Amino acid sequence: MKFEDIKTVGVLGGGVMGGGIAQMCAVAGYPTIVRDISDEAIEATRQAVFEGKWSLKRAVERGKLGYDDAAAAIARITLTQKLEDLKDCDIIIEAIPERLDLKQQVFKELDSAVKPEAIFASNTSGFVIQEIARDVSAERKTRFLGMHFSNPVPAMRMCEVIYTPESTEENIDAVRRLGEAGGKAVSMVKDTPGTYGFLLNRIFGAARREAVAIVEAGIATKEDIDKAMITGRNWPAGFFGSRGGIGREW
Ligand SMILES: NC(=O)c1ccc[n+]([C@@H]2O[C@H](COP(=O)([O-])OP(=O)(O)OC[C@H]3O[C@@H](n4cnc5c(N)ncnc54)[C@H](O)[C@@H]3O)[C@@H](O)[C@H]2O)c1
Repeated sequence: MKFEDIKTVGVLGGGVMGGGIAQMCAVAGYPTIVRDISDEAIEATRQAVFEGKWSLKRAVERGKLGYDDAAAAIARITLTQKLEDLKDCDIIIEAIPERLDLKQQVFKELDSAVKPEAIFASNTSGFVIQEIARDVSAERKTRFLGMHFSNPVPAMRMCEVIYTPESTEENIDAVRRLGEAGGKAVSMVKDTPGTYGFLLNRIFGAARREAVAIVEAGIATKEDIDKAMITGRNWPAGFFGSRGGIGREW
C-alpha cells in the first residue's frame, strides 16, 4: 500500500489511545472508523473525542484548531461496534488492551475481515510486533507494523514506527508518512524479539530503575530526584511525582 493510497483509516478500540488516534487521523483529513465493543465504550469515545479534555471542542477553545476544521473532523469520524465496517479501510490501527493473546486473536479475526491490501498497525506499548502478527497470513505480515503514540495523542508529538524483517519498504514508508501527516515526529525502530518497550519506554524504564536504585541506596530522596530532572533537564515531570506529561491541559 502506498501512502497516497491510504484514504480511510480504521481504529480498533476507542479508549484512551484509540480515541486520540482517531481524532488525529480525522484532523489530518482521513475518514476514520472506530470500532469498539460496547455501547458504553462507544459513548466514552464520543465524549472524549468531541468534548473531553483533549477533544476537538477543547482544541477550538484553546486556539489549536479552527471551528470549521473541527466540525469537518467530527464529520469524518464514524463510531461502530461492527467489525465488518472496517473491511474496506486502507489501514487499521489497533489500540485494544495490552494483552498479547488478545491482540493475536483480534488480528487473526481482522485478517479475514479486512481487505488483503490493508496495512495493520499496533499501538502496543512494547510487545514484539512479529509476535502480535503471529497468526495473520504471510502476505499480511509484509504490511504489519507498530505505530506507537504517546498519551494524550492529540497533544503529544511522538510516534515510533516499528518495522519487522517482513515489512516492505512501501508499507514502512506509508506508515511513517501517515504519522507525519498526523503532525507527529516519527522515530523508526527495528522490531526486536526478546525486548519490550521499543525506544521511548525502554529508555524511560531504564532511567526510572536507576532513580529507584538511587532512592533505595539512600543517595537522594524522590523529591530531590524529581527536582533535579525537572530543573536540570527541563523535564515536565519527574519519576515519582505528578506524571502529567505535557501538563494538565492544553
Ligand atoms: N494509555 C497510555 O498511556 C498508552 C500509551 C501508549 C500506548 N498504549 C497502548 O495502547 C493500547 C490501548 O491502551 P488504552 O490506554 O487506550 O486502553 P483503554 O483500556 O483505554 O482502551 C482499550 C479499548 O479497547 C476496547 N476493546 C477491547 N477489546 C476490543 C476488541 N476486540 N475490538 C475493539 N475494541 C476492543 C475496550 O472496550 C476499550 O475501549 C494498549 O496496547 C496500550 O499498551 C497506551
